[in-house]
Amino acid sequence: MASPNVYVLQSNHQTKGLFTLIRDKDIKREDFIFYSDRLIRLLIEEGLNCLPFHETTVITPTGSEYKGVSFASKICGVSIVRAGESMEAGLRAVCKHIKIGKILIQRDEETALPKLLYAKLPTDIEKRYVLLLDPMLATGGTVTQAIEVLVEKGVKEENIVFINLIAAPEGIQFLHSKYPKVKIVTGEIDTNLNEKKYIIPGIGDFGDRYFGTE
Ligand code: URA
Repeated sequence: MASPNVYVLQSNHQTKGLFTLIRDKDIKREDFIFYSDRLIRLLIEEGLNCLPFHETTVITPTGSEYKGVSFASKICGVSIVRAGESMEAGLRAVCKHIKIGKILIQRDEETALPKLLYAKLPTDIEKRYVLLLDPMLATGGTVTQAIEVLVEKGVKEENIVFINLIAAPEGIQFLHSKYPKVKIVTGEIDTNLNEKKYIIPGIGDFGDRYFGTE
């Protein structure tokens, strides 16, 4: 754990290899999607590991006891449109029948501040743990606004797990200055933001590369 409530995916040759592939500017789009999806799947498993559980014992086919755990809570996903939608399939692949809401936030051209344009969330979201999905954490403005929407709907700050692929230190700091109890699960923490607010070394525009709108 890098700092309280920040969980960085354990780095090994597999994960480093996957990041090397998707960060390469010359990778083909189909490969970018394939290897991003592999990393997203690992991150979602890591995010699920932040949720509470209770101890449970089952009897195995040999008649023996196995002391294990079972998952303790209702969950849902919320993707931040558009890049966050790339993480929905990975979440559905590991959580059967999961409800997934959406939040769309865009920068207001007059004020330059992030502005909520659309939110469609499960009606009982305040009773759920929320896995919030967005692959890039740059300034943290958008995700912080999305968390504000969830908190206004009654979701407890400590019940939110933000799952993301690459984070800038500036974004982590901004998010935690507003919502320190939100857990951030990230793949790698990069160096900084450039003057255009892109993450460095980064990956470029994730949504454009994933959805082919470059
Ligand atoms: N969003 C992206 O897709 N890339 C960045 O580097 C920053 C925000």
